[in-house]
Amino acid sequence: MLTEYIDSTERAAQIIREGGLVAFPTETVFGIGADATNAEAVKKLFAAKGRPGNNPLIVHLDDGGHWSRAATELPEVAEAMLDAFCPGPLTLVLPKLPTISEQVTAGLMTVGVRIPDHPIAREILRVAAVPVAAPSANRSGRPSGTTWQAVAEDLDGRIDAIFTADSTSIGIESTVVDCSGPSPVVLRPGAITLEQLQQVAPQTREFGVGENHHMVVSGEQVNSPGILHPHYQPNAEVLIVEVPPVGISVEVSAVSAFCGMEGFDGLDAFALSRIFGSLEDYAAGFYEFLREVDRQSFQKVFVQTAADEGIGWALRDRQRRAAGG
Ligand code: TXA
Ligand code: MG
Repeated sequence: MLTEYIDSTERAAQIIREGGLVAFPTETVFGIGADATNAEAVKKLFAAKGRPGNNPLIVHLDDGGHWSRAATELPEVAEAMLDAFCPGPLTLVLPKLPTISEQVTAGLMTVGVRIPDHPIAREILRVAAVPVAAPSANRSGRPSGTTWQAVAEDLDGRIDAIFTADSTSIGIESTVVDCSGPSPVVLRPGAITLEQLQQVAPQTREFGVGENHHMVVSGEQVNSPGILHPHYQPNAEVLIVEVPPVGISVEVSAVSAFCGMEGFDGLDAFALSRIFGSLEDYAAGFYEFLREVDRQSFQKVFVQTAADEGIGWALRDRQRRAAGG
């Protein structure tokens, strides 16, 4: 298939309405949009990404007031979160409306609903006037696309169009919170932090997180099947380190990459390195750095653990997953 490179929200909306696939920017990462009420379009979307069929997609709407286009019910906690954080980098898992294709939710009774805070995304959604299923714009398992060039790298020839917008500002996917049960459960950390959610719904907790910040899947039902699939991984081996990284020889540094927030003696020895000035910049540039590591065919990348505050909560989660853990 010949991929169109577009900068018209009208054209993007038209392709989605006609059952096609369009990559477009959001404030978190680029998404690949398809009409969530069109089972054929959604099947094509899974195929284009090479995504396992049991990993559900998030449905995107242009306005919080339109939640009833995807869900049957807005529990009180979800309403409070919607009022406080939407549009924004938050996905609410709610009881699913039958018109949303079962392909979208991988047969689950629930649906993830998100109102992105990005003018291009919202305009496309408004004009398309259908709920839009949109996973991150990357081949399944790879780091999410945060620039249109990264999206093109993975998906040129596999989707109908790519919107050539600026790179995304947050750079890490939305916080996913399941509001369909007795109390809200965070299934995926994101830019909206646990503390922020607890301010509007104090009973909110993190899914199966054990003492050392690892998912415990044995003792608890896995509500988000996507959690179990490999994610955000470059070809290079990812090694998480504190700074200064100890025990790394000059020879290893010379064929490796490093990214983090602090310089140290020996940093110059790394063949490719990037020091980010803030946690926000680190989060925004992390996936693109991993992709650059692959473009330059490095075998190893050393990654400094992010501080566990603000966006660092989500960044640490993605770093751990990029490292395969
Ligand atoms: O920021 C984002 O959320 C981006 C942009 C494009 O909006 N989208 C995104 O989609 O990251 P995706 O498909 O890469 O990740 C969706 C996550 C997966 O972990 C999936 O398992 C979970 O959301 N999810 C979706 N629907 C769900 C549901 N009904 N129940 C539980 N988890 C769900
Ligand atoms: Mg993804």
